[in-house]
Amino acid sequence: MMIAREAQRMGYRTVVWDPEAGCPASRLADETITAPFSDREAAERLANRADVVTYEFENVDPEIVAWIEGAKPVFPGSGILRVAQHRREEKEELKRLGFPTVAYLVVTGASQVREAIGTLGLPVVIKTATSGYDGKGQSVIHTAEDLDQWGREDASSGEFVVEQFIDLSCELSVVAARTRDGLIVTFPVGENVHRENILHRTIVPPSVSHEIQAEALRIARAVMDKFNVVGVLCTEMFVTRQGEVLVNELAPRPHNSGHYTLDACDVSQFEAVVRTVCGLPVKQPRLLTPCAMINLLGKHLERLNWQQAMNLPGVKVHLYGKKESRPKRKMGHMTVLNYSLDEVWSSVTVLEEMIGEGESVAASSRIQPGPVHHR
Ligand SMILES: Nc1ncnc2c1ncn2[C@@H]1O[C@H](COP(=O)(O)OP(=O)(O)O)[C@@H](O)[C@H]1O
Ligand SMILES: [Mg+2]
Repeated sequence: MMIAREAQRMGYRTVVWDPEAGCPASRLADETITAPFSDREAAERLANRADVVTYEFENVDPEIVAWIEGAKPVFPGSGILRVAQHRREEKEELKRLGFPTVAYLVVTGASQVREAIGTLGLPVVIKTATSGYDGKGQSVIHTAEDLDQWGREDASSGEFVVEQFIDLSCELSVVAARTRDGLIVTFPVGENVHRENILHRTIVPPSVSHEIQAEALRIARAVMDKFNVVGVLCTEMFVTRQGEVLVNELAPRPHNSGHYTLDACDVSQFEAVVRTVCGLPVKQPRLLTPCAMINLLGKHLERLNWQQAMNLPGVKVHLYGKKESRPKRKMGHMTVLNYSLDEVWSSVTVLEEMIGEGESVAASSRIQPGPVHHR
């Protein structure tokens, strides 16, 4: 929807392919194809209608994307999609290319998970190798009891990535864009807070040192280069207590942690998609004001007092128009802009209290409770 809006502003026509009729993007697209992402005929229709194709969701079949690639240019390509949608391949590729990651092991089935924990030690986070996003398919294991519970409820014969669950100093992300000519620009570094493994808030600029920010930007640029990405990609990173920057995962698309760019930058990540995939230049984005982005999940919507929220300084509301609300589904986000981060924080504090994500929740989520299940 956001890409279509930017494309429309720049005079382009868009065709959107989504399995769900009346999907948010259909409100802005010139044409909509409603079909599952495995539908060859739909792929053919899209390839016939489009001059250039992009995707903004990882869990699409890379075979289909590769097929479209045979007919029309697709940015970012099916190669990086294949890597990013498979946690094992992603980790192995990152390692091969020399990027630092958390310690992990790849296993199949529950018994091997136990072995892996024997090697890595507790706590760990078990992630399904495929189809995970927004904390889905993940379980944090702190104790033997957690593992038993996981064995009863979530174990399957599939492939898992077992990672050391590390005590993070903070999480950062960098959205970067690369043109067809190989020119890279980076959006400002965002500092992310997750609650129950779902992104809750992004703050820009982050509270980390300039050295750590520079390292995050360096890594993000190297990812764009080494994976030869054309388009937009977000690199999610962990900062350890020792100040080491590790790559967590790659998302070859506009990213939730980059939504702040819509309001706080002179070019948004969505405009950057349109420019790069259409062969236009994109200049290094500038941050116009300090900013916070807070996600609005289904469970937050009923608590939010719109009158009160929109009466706070610097608040902007984005709702995506998803038809069905679920407690942990991302339904929209708010940005808070102001002259200083202090001023941003005063509105953020009130908003978070209002949606039940205040300091008390933050404190309890620091002492991680048992396994988190997001199925
Ligand atoms: N190994 C880990 N150590 C500590 N926290 C983790 C680890 N793996 C994931 N997390 C937490 O869970 C969040 C979501 O995990 P991630 O691997 O990015 O999956 P998703 O695809 O759901 O975004 C991370 O941003 C982080 O907050
Ligand atoms: Mg993630």
